[in-house]
Amino acid sequence: MGKIIAIVNQKGGVGKTTTTVNLAASLSLADQKVLLVDFDPQGNASSAVGLAPSLGGDQATIYHALLGEVTLSQVIVETGIDHLSLAPANPHLAGAEIELVGAFAREGKLRAALSEIKHRYDYIFIDCPPTLGLLTVNALTAADSVIVPLQAEYFALEGLGQLMTTIDLIKQSVNPSLAIEGIALTMFNGQLKLSHEIENEVRQHFGDRVFKTVIPRNIKLSECTSFGKPIVLYDVNSKGCVAYLDLARELLENTKRARQQQQAPAPGRSPEIGG
Ligand SMILES: Nc1ncnc2c1ncn2[C@@H]1O[C@H](COP(=O)(O)OP(=O)(O)O)[C@@H](O)[C@H]1O
Ligand SMILES: [Mg+2]
Repeated sequence: MGKIIAIVNQKGGVGKTTTTVNLAASLSLADQKVLLVDFDPQGNASSAVGLAPSLGGDQATIYHALLGEVTLSQVIVETGIDHLSLAPANPHLAGAEIELVGAFAREGKLRAALSEIKHRYDYIFIDCPPTLGLLTVNALTAADSVIVPLQAEYFALEGLGQLMTTIDLIKQSVNPSLAIEGIALTMFNGQLKLSHEIENEVRQHFGDRVFKTVIPRNIKLSECTSFGKPIVLYDVNSKGCVAYLDLARELLENTKRARQQQQAPAPGRSPEIGG
């Protein structure tokens, strides 16, 4: 079964889309079957792989799947990168916030749409919009875990409390097993004292829930988007690319370790004793 990971932070410009797209592409390079779900009406994740659906066109998007007009299979397109598929979005998705208001179980629409295709992938990444509205709530309801990108610059921690409260509310109501996969520090500038201070503060506060890998501020990461390519296809030797490949490796190792722990018998409850 695919692992569904939502990339969430209600602040804009913190590196959600950059992290989603480049983590997804890095894992597909490691032979993982990956689906990238663009869940932001800005459609940046779709553009970042060169596949922004036009507004006037009749291409099915995640919006149509959310409203139940089509299945998710009818929305998914191949990116041209082996093992990497995309469920695209465009600004029509913004309408879903309003159109779903009166709908039954409106927070579960994405989860329902994903259930049909979940088994086909190893990882499904959801790129969330910069709000804690209904779209993000749908992503958190569908997800197995959450990655929170934090910009290692001014006001990095602002709003984090509110985000954690939202995650707790979702856990208590519709998705009890939702986990924090990790906090990823982004746009780290090694020459800035502030970046180091923020890193120390975040690690002190969140401990091993912070990824060891830190994403540096790297111009190549912003350039590649305008070429519609993930960094692995744009400049594989850049610091930004190396960092996202490291982050992908860390995620793979964490997933493997968690699965081994699940399979191992709980301590003190060996078959001989527990019967
Ligand atoms: N590590 C980085 N180094 C340099 N620029 C970055 C980096 N991460 C993101 N950016 C740029 O910062 C802007 C915001 O990033 P983005 O991933 O779109 O954030 P979000 O999805 O949270 O709004 C984009 O222009 C992106 O290209
Ligand atoms: Mg974004």
